[in-house]
Amino acid sequence: MTTEIKVTTSSEDDTFSLGETIASRIPGPIIIGLKGQLGAGKTTLVKGIARGLGIDPDTVTSPTYSIAQHYEASPHSLCHCDLYRLHSEDDFYHSGIDEMLEDAIAVVEWPEMLPAAITTSSAYGEITLSAISEHERLVSLRLPFWAEGQELPAGE
Ligand SMILES: Nc1ncnc2c1ncn2[C@@H]1O[C@H](COP(=O)(O)OP(=O)(O)OP(=O)(O)O)[C@@H](O)[C@H]1O
Ligand SMILES: [Mg+2]
Repeated sequence: MTTEIKVTTSSEDDTFSLGETIASRIPGPIIIGLKGQLGAGKTTLVKGIARGLGIDPDTVTSPTYSIAQHYEASPHSLCHCDLYRLHSEDDFYHSGIDEMLEDAIAVVEWPEMLPAAITTSSAYGEITLSAISEHERLVSLRLPFWAEGQELPAGE
């Protein structure tokens, strides 16, 4: 089981930087489930990940209405999904999102809608953000490539 690492960020910039750090450590295609309540900082973190992958963070917008947004980058593209509008595993496979996720760094909001075949695979990780105070966020990282004992990112 993947080790859980907890980091506290104290500002929006901090969470953005954490995203950049995460991106710099991602070795290859992965699906990362992203959880957190309204205003927890999910979009901020995804913008940071985008920057870390060489994508202009200003182009990253919420995928709610399109379910998935693809951002081309080299060597790894970013796929940002929000599965809120899906209702079943069938919906997931019929939407064609599974193909979009292949070979990308995929960040998936509402990962509860992902099929177990994905969430139990070794190429799946999860990040949960929760608000501790107005400006502090507890970020829990379960990322298969982030081994225990590795240096913690900025913000801790
Ligand atoms: N430590 C922090 N990290 C991230 N955002 C913070 C932090 N402290 C305060 N904020 C504020 O919280 C808000 C986070 O917004 P963001 O859009 O990233 O959240 P979200 O989880 O995507 O919300 P939603 O579910 O509505 O899409 C921003 O207004 C930001 O300024
Ligand atoms: Mg958001």
